Order: sequence, then C-alpha cells, then structure tokens
Amino acid sequence: MKRDSVKLVWDSKNKLVKANGINNIELMAEVYPWALKEGSDSVEIKDLQYQLAPINRRLIQGDNYNVMQFLLENGYSEKFDLIYLDPPYYSETNYNSKIKIGHKDKERSITRPIFKDSWDNLDAYLDYLYPILTLSKELLSKEGNLFVHLDWHASHYIKVILDEIFSKERFINQIVWCYGGGSGAKRYFHRKHDIILWYSKSNDYIFNPQYRPYTEKTLDRGLTKVKGNKYVLNEKGALMQDWWTDINKILSPTAYENLKFPTQKPMALVQRIIKAGSNENSLVGDFFCGSGTTAQVAENLNRFWVVCDNNNIAVQTTQNRLIESNSHPFTIETTMPWSGEFNSLNINWKYDDNNLMVSLDSKKTDIDMLNFWEIGIKEQDVFKSMFQLIRPKENLTYLPDKIVLKNIELIRDKKIIVNAYDYLGNIKQASLG
Ligand SMILES: C[S@@+](CC[C@H](N)C(=O)[O-])C[C@H]1O[C@@H](n2cnc3c(N)ncnc32)[C@H](O)[C@@H]1O
Repeated sequence: MKRDSVKLVWDSKNKLVKANGINNIELMAEVYPWALKEGSDSVEIKDLQYQLAPINRRLIQGDNYNVMQFLLENGYSEKFDLIYLDPPYYSETNYNSKIKIGHKDKERSITRPIFKDSWDNLDAYLDYLYPILTLSKELLSKEGNLFVHLDWHASHYIKVILDEIFSKERFINQIVWCYGGGSGAKRYFHRKHDIILWYSKSNDYIFNPQYRPYTEKTLDRGLTKVKGNKYVLNEKGALMQDWWTDINKILSPTAYENLKFPTQKPMALVQRIIKAGSNENSLVGDFFCGSGTTAQVAENLNRFWVVCDNNNIAVQTTQNRLIESNSHPFTIETTMPWSGEFNSLNINWKYDDNNLMVSLDSKKTDIDMLNFWEIGIKEQDVFKSMFQLIRPKENLTYLPDKIVLKNIELIRDKKIIVNAYDYLGNIKQASLG
C-alpha cells in the first residue's frame, strides 16, 4: 500500500543547513552525591560510594541538536526506550525565574532569565523543532516511545510533522493534561490543558498500562452487580484514559516540588509517562530537560537517563536536585565552556594533620548569592565531586559554610578542588592545597 503523501510545507523546510555539530562533549565532573545539609559539619566516611562509576546517568550542557547528533554518532543510535521532549511551545513568552535570597531582614529578589520562546515566525519555530524530532526517531530503540509535550499554540503543526517522520500508524495517543489555575481570558474559554503527542518507533512498543482509582459511583454500585461476574473490579483501579485531570500544575510558590523554574513539570505527570512507556533499566532521554524532572523521575523509577539543556541555570537546578535527592553517581558534561565567573568567591582553606577543614570566607563571599558548593578531587584530569554543600529545601536561607573532612583516605595527598555555584548559573573553581 502506498504511504500517505500528506505533509506540512513551509518555505525553509529542509533548506536550513545546520552547522557541522561538535566533535566532543567534555566531561566536567563525576558527581557522587553525598550532600551535607544542616546539622553536622564533618564527614567521617572512608570509602563513600566512590567505586560506583557513573554509567548512563548523564547531564549534558549544550544545544540539543549538537548533543543528539553527537550521541547518535557515538553509540546511542536506537538506544533510548523513551524520549520525553518538553520544548518551548511557540508561546511568544520569555521565561524568567524569580527567587528571593537572603534572610528576612535583608531579603532581596533576583530575576534569572531562563529561555526565550519568541520567534520571527512559525517557520523559524518549525525549523528549530523538525531536526530534533527527526533525531529523536533515530535515537529510539525498536520498542521505543517518543512523548512530545506541547499546547494549543503549535501542537497541531507538530502532529502533522510527526505523522510524516514516524507515519501516522505510529501515532499512539494524544494525551490531554488538564489543570486549573487563574487566567485573564475574557473573550474565550480559559486555555487549561496541554497536549502530549505519543509516537512509537514500531508496532512492538513498550506499554505498561496505568490505572486510576475508580470513581465513588463505580465503587458504590460495584460493576459486578450491574454486569455480572465477568466485570469484577480490578484491584489496581480503572484503566487510565488519554485525558488526565488528576495532576495539578506546580502553582504554589511553597509547593515542596517547586524549584522556581518556570515551566517545571510535576513529577507525577512525568512519572506516569515514564512508567507507561519504558521498563526498569530502560534508557530515558530528555533534550529540553529544564529543572531535571525527567532525570529525577527516571532515577526514582530505576531507569538510566541522558538529559541536556543549553541553559546554565537549568543544568545547575538539575544538578542540585539530583544531589538533594541522593541520586546514583552521575556525570556533568558540556559542549561549551561555562559562561561567566563568580568572582566574589573567596575560599578559606585550613589544614592540619588530623583535620582537613574547608570553609567559605563569609566576609569576602556573598553567601546569599551562592546556590551550593562542592568539594572533590582531580584524578586523571577528571574532577570527582565527593561532598556537596547545599541549601536544605526546608530552609533555603541556610547554606553550610564549612566542612571538616577527617581521616578520609581517598582525599589524602590528592589535589582538592572546590566549585561554587551562584544563583545566576556561574561557577567558580578553586584548587586548594
Ligand atoms: C519547557 S522547558 C522544560 C521544562 C522541564 N520539562 C521541567 O520539568 O523543568 C524547556 C527547556 O528547554 C531548554 N532549551 C530550549 N532550547 C534548547 C536547545 N536548543 N537546546 C537545549 N535546551 C534547550 C530551555 O533552556 C528550557 O530549560
């Protein structure tokens, strides 16, 4: 049977010549999460989790086209069981992250630019997304699934493009995620749903059915009474439909999950997608990773993951979140040097035979601007982050400012490195001793 010839056409389609890509992704760090929060300022552990080298838990800073192309050429063709893409939606909005830093009496707000979702025209937007969707298909395993998260602005155009790339037979679901919240709309219905397009690589795709609780009415009535024994209630619940109304957007500024990252998706939403479309030990990809929701959910569900973002703050938010949730060791890699420097940092280093103390010099450091810092060693030119000093979620005004590393054989006689990250996405590295 002849395949459909219906396609979306725009002037620059297939004419855009993308730059040659990249030759390498540089390994910035291996991170062994061992976060020091409130309470103790000393660590007395000998071997840590240090032996577990990170494998396929990769946080990459860089443009997704370059990263995906690089992965494709370096062993990742047909390796991903699931790819979740949550790109800009063609919304003509610039997204900033506003946060409050400092203590009550000295509190101040800072605005951090994250990404621009503004385009010359629809052509430019499609030129940007089309190659990413094409590369996604090549990265997907034979049983793999692609989920593309969009909304009313452009989902219909992308649907037609995905039909072209995957064929319309590989279109599985249009998931409608409904949520509440205010809106100023007076001349039309409030736009309160997103669209998630699901395509599979082949007909033999992974699907683990998901369930929702039965409605009270169904439970009261009991299906058995109405329809006989054939229709006993399933103890897991009712099979999930393609419209989801049970997951709220992260709206409250004090919500536990809220990382003050605009467009951050709830873990429950991404969890449903990853549970349904991949298996334990599957490799999951997200090439617009933002605050790192996919990486964290993949961790929680025992999946491997490769995620990327071209924004420093997104990468640092993901890094911090994975450390906070005590993830397996992971790597941080980059296709481009980190931009900017955090020059006000001054690190005070104290050492004696028994005590190894690293502390921030609070007089010379704007600690309020410091998001987190970490200590590690350099081995064979690779930085290994061994202790991370982060702000506890429950008390963001607190950041541990010193650490005493007693009797830790691993770091004795090694070159100690300290990295500090500020809220604007800058990093400062110091080599001690
Ligand atoms: C809608 S947000 C993703 C939010 C994410 N799902 C979460 O839960 O936090 C889109 C992200 O894509 C990133 N991005 C946009 N264009 C990119 C590109 N060309 N390469 C890599 N990342 C990009 C932005 O920096 C932003 O963090």
